[in-house]
Amino acid sequence: MRVPFIAGNWKMFKTREEARAFAAEFKGLYGGTDVQTAICAPFTDLETLVEEFRGTDIKVGAQNVHFEDEGAYTGEISAAMLEDIGVDFCIVGHSERRQYFAETDETVNLKLKKLLAGTIRPIMCVGESLEERDDGKAFDKVRGQLQKGLEGIGAGDAVKIVIAYEPIWAIGTGRTATPQQAEEMCAFIRNTLIELYDEDTADEMIIQYGGSVKPANATDIMNMDEIDGALVGGASLKAKDFMEIIDF
Ligand code: 13P
Repeated sequence: MRVPFIAGNWKMFKTREEARAFAAEFKGLYGGTDVQTAICAPFTDLETLVEEFRGTDIKVGAQNVHFEDEGAYTGEISAAMLEDIGVDFCIVGHSERRQYFAETDETVNLKLKKLLAGTIRPIMCVGESLEERDDGKAFDKVRGQLQKGLEGIGAGDAVKIVIAYEPIWAIGTGRTATPQQAEEMCAFIRNTLIELYDEDTADEMIIQYGGSVKPANATDIMNMDEIDGALVGGASLKAKDFMEIIDF
């Protein structure tokens, strides 16, 4: 059985003080849950959150990583550096990084391999633009991202990867994919994983939906068979809203 996994993605929000205040409030609200929970925060907040969440089962994630071990890469952070401060997850290939920071399927692939060589579990984002959806190319786009992004990664490593389906047209727009649209693509992703690996591997892998997930729509989304979790942007910035989503 797959354990539901709901992660927040704070994007470029929150100073350390704000992160600490969130953690204090969130820990106060956080009761027992069967849902695996994580917050993916800016690099500067990671150590604070690791400290704050120590002794709880709330995990901490980064939002990006470089694929080399070390070197002259000004502004970059390595997987070993993230491991060193106790990070559990790392988002790879978010559409905002693909759009604004030249992330490609090739760099996604290198980053996944680097993380999988260590202990941090990747959250690999895939998803189509509105134009691609309107042109009937959504499924081809996502299949291509999976094929190229997962190239050369064996089944034993693939099971550690969380796939996040985030249609670009639903991110930060308030326009959520309908639960049926999200389910259809997540089922397609699962089938593609069967093609790339095998049924057991695909069965084990967690597939999240992301894009305008809010307390009001979390239940409908989480109740879908092929959707195992959510990657939550805006609504993860408020402890109460994020907790309501986890309690879907
Ligand atoms: P929103 O929930 O703000 O639409 O963001 C989704 C997202 O990009 C999560 O990674």
